[in-house]
Amino acid sequence: MTAYQPIAKTADLPEGKGKVVKVGRRQILLMNIDGRFYALDRFCAHRAAPLVQGEVIDGQLLCPWHGNTFDVATGRCLANPEEEVRTYPVEVRGEEIWVEMEHEP
Ligand code: FES
Repeated sequence: MTAYQPIAKTADLPEGKGKVVKVGRRQILLMNIDGRFYALDRFCAHRAAPLVQGEVIDGQLLCPWHGNTFDVATGRCLANPEEEVRTYPVEVRGEEIWVEMEHEP
């Protein structure tokens, strides 16, 4: 079962920045790109590079290790569609960023 939960304040994540946020036992990458927030797995689907170190170019997140690019909205890898980073639905409620995830036991 999934549910939205607050994971950060909008003021904590300036435009153009990303940071790793701990949610229960998981850690996800939260990004602010052009004022929109995105949540995705923090590791690359290829060899688990830390995507927080990647550069964002035109809405595409560039993996710091081997250069695959991922669509931050869908998690799709442009060069290899089989390698997809999981994304999570995000809502901004007032000054908080909420992300929909499974509840941990
Ligand atoms: S670890 Fe990201 S492309 Fe290889």
